[in-house]
Amino acid sequence: MGRRALITGASSGIGKALALEYASRGFDLLLTARNQAQLQALAAQCADRCGVAAQVLAADLADPAATEALVLAALKEPLYTLVNNAGFAIKGEFVATDIGEELDLLNVQLIAMLRLTKAVLPAMIARGEGRIMNIASVYSFSAVPRQAVYSACKSFMLSFSGALAHELRGKGVRVTAVCPGTTRTEFRRRAGIGEKSGAGMAPEEVARLAFVASEAGKATVVPGFWNRVFVFASQHLPLAAAASLVSYINDHRGVNK
Ligand SMILES: NC(=O)c1ccc[n+]([C@@H]2O[C@H](COP(=O)([O-])OP(=O)(O)OC[C@H]3O[C@@H](n4cnc5c(N)ncnc54)[C@H](OP(=O)(O)O)[C@@H]3O)[C@@H](O)[C@H]2O)c1
Repeated sequence: MGRRALITGASSGIGKALALEYASRGFDLLLTARNQAQLQALAAQCADRCGVAAQVLAADLADPAATEALVLAALKEPLYTLVNNAGFAIKGEFVATDIGEELDLLNVQLIAMLRLTKAVLPAMIARGEGRIMNIASVYSFSAVPRQAVYSACKSFMLSFSGALAHELRGKGVRVTAVCPGTTRTEFRRRAGIGEKSGAGMAPEEVARLAFVASEAGKATVVPGFWNRVFVFASQHLPLAAAASLVSYINDHRGVNK
């Protein structure tokens, strides 16, 4: 039987690139996001190009009931890989941002990840094989002014992934936190984040490096040399200094405009 991967946030960007990457490696797919038309087009592309079975389930992960429906779909057939990728950013000073949007962000990036992971792990452990991939960020390593809730979510994802990876040692199930920097997707435009045009990595390259790291069972991967430099600096500075550094960099890049 072929291996099967569930990818959240598959309708665009890194999630879409991951779907094509897994399909090219022969994985059957369960693809989810809100945009059903984009998911269906992608599923058809995966099936035509790679001959894999690609199922689609449209779900708004800000809604816990929709996450439960996805959990049920995930449990119908054995799953080799779970990719928790769906996400979005919120830009602005915390005093001025919308709390409803922030609670949605927690549901999409944290609660859905926890629900899906807890649901699929027992069967992975029983089979002695499986992969969990969590798409975190270089911001996981820093406090990011004007993206406070987003960056805190990404720190949660990194910390959770690291602890879970340790707990699962020797059980055949590996957990990888993928920590991309700027990637050329819809992400920044959707959040109203400014950026010099053309900046960042291609989502296909991020997806390829993420797949390789996950299959190798690596606990973390930071794609791209300059992203690794940024992470190194963040890890070696006190929290306040790291926050000042990223704020300076983001002002310089026009991110905070
Ligand atoms: N691009 C970057 O620079 C960058 C850097 C570091 C980390 N990341 C992370 O990479 C991941 C993917 O982002 P991306 O760059 O590929 O951006 P993207 O092109 O905007 O893709 C985000 C995906 O998440 C889905 N999504 C958003 N809200 C959702 C919701 N309420 N329910 C279900 N799905 C939802 C979107 O689908 P629908 O709109 O169809 O629901 C879309 O498929 C995110 O977790 C992001 O934080 C991105």
